[in-house]
Amino acid sequence: MWITILVLFAGLAQGPARNPRESDPNAIRTGTARFQSSCAECHGIDAKGVFGPDLTTLWTAGSSDDRIFQTVRRGVPGSSMPASRLADDDIWAITVSACDKHLREHRVA
Ligand code: HEC
Repeated sequence: MWITILVLFAGLAQGPARNPRESDPNAIRTGTARFQSSCAECHGIDAKGVFGPDLTTLWTAGSSDDRIFQTVRRGVPGSSMPASRLADDDIWAITVSACDKHLREHRVA
C-alpha cells in the first residue's frame, strides 16, 4: 500500500517527459521491430524518410521523447501521418530505438 503510493508520487514528480523505457535493455530491439512494421513504409527502414520526414534529426532539433510520443499517438491532422494504434509501451520503445540510432549516427554517445 505505502509502496504503491510512494511509487505513484515518484512517477508524478518525474513528470510526463520521462520515457518509461529509457533504460530498458529490450526497448531498442522491440522499438526497431515495431518501427519496421508500423512506420518504415513512410519514414524508411533507417528512419531517414521516404514519404514522411527524416526522423533521425528530431533529437538534433531538440524534440523531447514526450513530444514525439504525443505526435505518434495523435498523428498529424491534415497529413498522412496516422494516429498510432500501438500500445503506449511500444511507442516509447520506438522513441528509444530511434533516439539510439540518432546518437550512433551522430556519434554523440
Ligand atoms: C502513412 C505514412 C506514415 C506512417 C505509417 C507513419 N508516419 Fe510519421 N509522418 C508521416 C508524415 C507525412 C509526417 C509529416 C507530417 C507533417 O506534415 O508535419 C510524419 C511525421 C512524423 C513525426 C513528426 C516529425 C517532426 O518533424 O516533428 C514523427 C515523430 C513521426 N511521424 C513518427 C512516426 C512513427 C514513430 C510512426 C510509426 C508508429 C509513423 N510516424 C508512421 C507519415 C507517416
